[in-house]
Amino acid sequence: MLRITVLVSGGGTNLQAIIDAMAAGNIHNARIVRVISNNPGAYALTRAENAGIEGICVSPRSFSDRDAFHKALLNAIDEVDTDLVVLAGCMVVLPPELISSYRGRIINIHPALIPSFCGKGFYGLHVHEAVLSRGVKVTGATVHFVDEGTDTGPIILQKAVDVRDDDTPETLQRRVMEEAEWQIMPRAIDLIAQGKVTIKDGRTQIEE
Ligand code: GAR
Repeated sequence: MLRITVLVSGGGTNLQAIIDAMAAGNIHNARIVRVISNNPGAYALTRAENAGIEGICVSPRSFSDRDAFHKALLNAIDEVDTDLVVLAGCMVVLPPELISSYRGRIINIHPALIPSFCGKGFYGLHVHEAVLSRGVKVTGATVHFVDEGTDTGPIILQKAVDVRDDDTPETLQRRVMEEAEWQIMPRAIDLIAQGKVTIKDGRTQIEE
């Protein structure tokens, strides 16, 4: 049984998609053991509670410095024997010690087709604003492993979504979530839980 800790910061619709996929039997051999939010007001914590999952807040504001926050975050992940860390709308830059302790065991969802519209400053609605201002016709979402860079780790799954002429950042964000994020995130977790994802030379191989 793969033990998953989900890191969130906001609304938690990707968390909900994972919870729903587990309830529907679409993710095998895995369970969420803890949800951690850096933001005490995150609706994702309510979603966790509604699903009977432990949700805790580890906020940088509760600690005297960044180092103490990083230690507390790593400890909150370690103490529940986490096998896989899932970043589902997590807006915290992860400490290097967390990335090295969980190398190949942290995944993130990014709301664009990496390597487009990713890296520093590209998160949340900003991504969709940049997509619309550049005028690309296709965008999408990417699930990838996390390494020391920003959105640079090995790609696991991607799904494309058409951009419409009348899209606003908000309508595009919603459609990318519905048509891509909420599908590929649960699917990637299921593939990992079934041992079907391996990393070789910075690229993933997926046994379908
Ligand atoms: C999602 O669109 C996710 O892809 C994005 O934040 C949103 C969180 O929504 N993540 C990033 O931009 C990370 N760079 P949610 O809280 O409803 O899942």
